[in-house]
Amino acid sequence: MSDNKFVKKIACIGAGYVGGPTMTVIANFCPDYQVTVLDISQERIDQWNSNELPIFEPGLKERVLKARGQNLFFSTDIDRCIDEADIIFVAVNTPTKTFGEGAGKAVDLQYIEQTARRIKENSKSDKIIVEKSTIPVRAAETLGKILHSGNNSIHFEILSNPEFMAEGTGIHDMENPDRILIGSMDTPSGQAARDELIKIYERWVTPENLITTNLWSSELSKLVSNAFLAQRISSINSISGLCEVTEADVDEVARAVGKDSRIGPKFLRAGVGFGGSCFRKDILNLVYLCEHFGLQPVADFWGQVIIMNDYQMERFVQRMLKAMFNSVVDKKIALFGFAFKPDTGDTRDSPAIYISKMLLKERARLCITDPHALKNAQKDLEGVEGEIVYEPDPYKAAEGAHAIALMTEWDQYKTLDYKRIFESMEKPAFLFDGRNHLDHQALFDLGFNVHSIGKPDRIQFDDPS
Ligand code: NAD
Ligand code: UDX
Repeated sequence: MSDNKFVKKIACIGAGYVGGPTMTVIANFCPDYQVTVLDISQERIDQWNSNELPIFEPGLKERVLKARGQNLFFSTDIDRCIDEADIIFVAVNTPTKTFGEGAGKAVDLQYIEQTARRIKENSKSDKIIVEKSTIPVRAAETLGKILHSGNNSIHFEILSNPEFMAEGTGIHDMENPDRILIGSMDTPSGQAARDELIKIYERWVTPENLITTNLWSSELSKLVSNAFLAQRISSINSISGLCEVTEADVDEVARAVGKDSRIGPKFLRAGVGFGGSCFRKDILNLVYLCEHFGLQPVADFWGQVIIMNDYQMERFVQRMLKAMFNSVVDKKIALFGFAFKPDTGDTRDSPAIYISKMLLKERARLCITDPHALKNAQKDLEGVEGEIVYEPDPYKAAEGAHAIALMTEWDQYKTLDYKRIFESMEKPAFLFDGRNHLDHQALFDLGFNVHSIGKPDRIQFDDPS
């Protein structure tokens, strides 16, 4: 690494789904900045430095290869890089706490605190610290206290710059963001730090999409943004149950409702429920904060978004059971897709995890297929009792199965030869489309009993009694 050919040095602590891609995009747009992504996990850093990146994200690999070794570096040399950096992004994980006070709701801030202490210990000059991780509102205050404790000579200016990218479209989202949000203190040093960060983003983001706010608004906006998105999904999913008993079609309802420009069409796709590492965790965090500040009705309001999501997954399994003559004991069920959404190998909080566990409790035999998530699926279901086979080929997964349950709307599942699949399955052959992704009429015409979300069932030999 040459030292003085760069105008500024950036370090990012946390080389995960956010740290890796965001820093890659910055390095691509700012060749005059040195960008080093740091992690405590040697394995993760080795993967970033290899040809097998630790995460699958369309467009990521090309961009990593373009900048890696030029101005983009992946390293475990955290202490030295902290010392050398002008700007430090913090992108470590902030999972839901699993122990003690606030367990199951509050954020576990231990990784944030460890990072802050390490920055303090290794800094010999003033630095800008950028919160990229999603954290509770006013977390910057805690961060500041840790950074400045027992130290009067070095100034750390904290900015909030939450990440809004969605996995699977992460690179596109970062290169074409709806907005970049920067929260800062309303002080001369806060404004100066904010301007430093703007200098980076303005290389590719137009000024009207660069939003500046105070620190607390920025921190809270991230939680609220995820809560609003998840709330729309739970809203349409709640209506899907009503559609199923009234012969309305949830996709038609969503289209009609979403045509109202005040509502808009996005995030109204009914399905088996939302997953991913963010929605549940961030809403739980919001609920915890509201309870903490004595706003119980507000906490209950947002808590209902999660209750509805859990109900949607349970309802899906109950419908499977009912359709399959109230028993799946010893029946092979092929799960098409395990990732929480297509175009990612990420399975964190995927509805497929919950649905697999419920089906295994009912003593079904599972065969799981997914183009990118089988390794993670295996980890998620490790130690769970019951028969589970992991099969990359969807045709083999469906062979001899009583039912297919589609969990992830991978593009390739649309174009499979379902005639061949139908012929290889037990009869009656059931297809449960948890994402309303397939051509239901065509599948019905092939002989499948088709059950989808928020639509009338298509059953081959319906008993009119
Ligand atoms: P991740 O688990 O993929 O990555 C976090 C990384 O931080 C891990 O590699 C871990 O080893 C590393 N780490 C933890 N403690 C460390 C320490 N003390 N020093 C150095 N490295 C350390 O998590 P992620 O999905 O990238 O999420 C990171 C943050 O971004 C979270 O707060 C999350 O809520 C937020 N976020 C995530 C997404 C997303 O789509 N995944 C989107 C927006 C915001
Ligand atoms: C989300 C936010 O979209 C993003 O802005 C934030 O930075 C991180 O959290 P992500 O979880 O990666 O991103 O994916 P997203 O596209 O939001 O999907 C989350 C879940 O909701 C998936 O399981 C998806 O299948 C589901 N979903 C999404 C629906 O069920 N219906 C929809 O209409 C949209």
